Amino acid sequence: MAGASGSEIRDLTQAERELAVPVLIDSFTGIYRWHAKRTLRSISRVRGAWSGEELAGVSMLEFLEPPVGYVYYIAVRLAHRRRGVARRLLDDALELFGQHGARVVFAAAEEDNTASLRLFTERGFRLTEPKEQGWREGGLGAWGLRSRMMVVSGEVLLGLRLHPEPPVE
Ligand SMILES: CC(C)(COP(=O)(O)OP(=O)(O)OC[C@H]1O[C@@H](n2cnc3c(N)ncnc32)[C@H](O)[C@@H]1OP(=O)(O)O)[C@@H](O)C(=O)NCCC(=O)NCCS
Repeated sequence: MAGASGSEIRDLTQAERELAVPVLIDSFTGIYRWHAKRTLRSISRVRGAWSGEELAGVSMLEFLEPPVGYVYYIAVRLAHRRRGVARRLLDDALELFGQHGARVVFAAAEEDNTASLRLFTERGFRLTEPKEQGWREGGLGAWGLRSRMMVVSGEVLLGLRLHPEPPVE
C-alpha cells in the first residue's frame, strides 16, 4: 500500500523484523522496550512503513479471537515523527482487520501518552470501561481478553467497533 507521501506499508518477514529494533529503541524504555522486542519476534503480523530504504515505523497486530483485532504496538522512528506515519499504519491495520472479519479492534495506551491517545481517538477509538457491555453484546467491554492484551496499571484500553454484532438466530 503506497502512502500519500510515497511511503510503502507491507508485512515484514521474520528476518526483516530485526530492522525494527532501532524503531523500538527510539520509542520505548524499560519493561515496555523488552516486551515490544519480545512481541516483535513472536507476534503473527508485523507491518512496516518504509521511507525509501529506511524503516520509518512498525505496527504489531494480532487477532485475539477471529472477530477481535488487537494493535499491540505502533512505533515510529524519532526522525520520522509528525509526518503521518503512525496514522497510515493505523489506517492500514484497520483495513487489514476489517478485510479479515474483525468486528472490534482494541489498543492499549499509557493514560498519559497524549500522542498515542490522540492518534487512536481521532480514528474513532474510545476509552472502554472495565464493566461495560461486552464486545459480543455490542459494547466494547473486553471480557475474557484483558489478560491476553496484558493491559497493566497506568494504561487505558481503547476500542473501536468496525461492524455491528450479527443478529442472534
Ligand atoms: C505515538 C507515535 C506512534 C505517533 O507517531 P507519528 O508518526 O509521529 O504520528 P502521526 O504523525 O501519524 O500523528 C497522527 C496524530 O497523532 C497525534 N500525535 C502524534 N504525535 C503527537 C504528539 N507528539 N503530541 C500530540 N499528538 C500527537 C496527533 O493527533 C497527530 O495528528 P496531527 O499531526 O494532524 O496533529 C510516536 O510518537 C511513537 O512512536 N511514540 C512512542 C511509541 C508509542 O507510544 N506508541 C503508541 C502506543 S503503542
